[in-house]
Amino acid sequence: MITINILTLFPYMFKGFLSESIPNIAQQKGQLSVHLIDIRDFSEDKHRKVDDYQYGGGAGLVMTPQPLASAINHVLKPDIPVIYFTPQGQLLNQNIIRKYLNLQEIIIVCGHYKEIDQRIRDKYITDEISIGDYVLSGGELPAMVFTDAIARLLDNVISDPDSALTDSHENGLLGHPCYTRPYEFEGMKVPEVLVSGNHKEIDNWRKVKSIELTKKIRPDIIMENGEWEMNNGKWTNGVSPFKPNNGKWTNGVSPFKPNNG
Ligand code: ADE
Repeated sequence: MITINILTLFPYMFKGFLSESIPNIAQQKGQLSVHLIDIRDFSEDKHRKVDDYQYGGGAGLVMTPQPLASAINHVLKPDIPVIYFTPQGQLLNQNIIRKYLNLQEIIIVCGHYKEIDQRIRDKYITDEISIGDYVLSGGELPAMVFTDAIARLLDNVISDPDSALTDSHENGLLGHPCYTRPYEFEGMKVPEVLVSGNHKEIDNWRKVKSIELTKKIRPDIIMENGEWEMNNGKWTNGVSPFKPNNGKWTNGVSPFKPNNG
């Protein structure tokens, strides 16, 4: 069970997200608990003000430190990460998601308006994360992205755990193309190999498609994880940094299968 405390000025943004699909299932199964905390409730200002002009001038309002500090202290425990979503943070990826997966509790601070006061970042924030090189109006959508990516990896949330392990980015590759019924749609047929019943060939076709797609769309991932090659009938990426761990190939996070069975 992981508890995610989300500090936000807009708790209602999360209601639909948390009541549908995977985030809802994760909560129903007792694997995820999300506490929405309204930062404004902690403002000591008589008008419940939470923002102010920037020292030094310039456009945009900055979230004031007092309500943020009080809200953080309300849920803070020793040694739990306090995440702030910002375009200035480390770019989020599947490995980073897996780093948080086994934690019991996390705090997420959602900024809004131009920024939050730097002193909150200096004193309370432990991890700064970006979900991409573009600017959103606040940290609420990134917090939902993060929570969803965690929720779907929690035990028993996705009925077929193999499904999560074969997703894009789980093995350093983008996912392969998928087809379902009907066999023929608008003149386009499902690739023959997928109806051949030959699982070895199907696995190989999927791997080749994943490698082709990754090379074309995200050559940076190949550069980082090494070229893929066929060795003794198995696909390996030669310069993989992954090490065997209790008989399983892992990169500390994802259970890679041993190459020799
Ligand atoms: N807040 C605003 N834009 C963001 C982004 N791209 N990633 C994370 N947090 C943000």
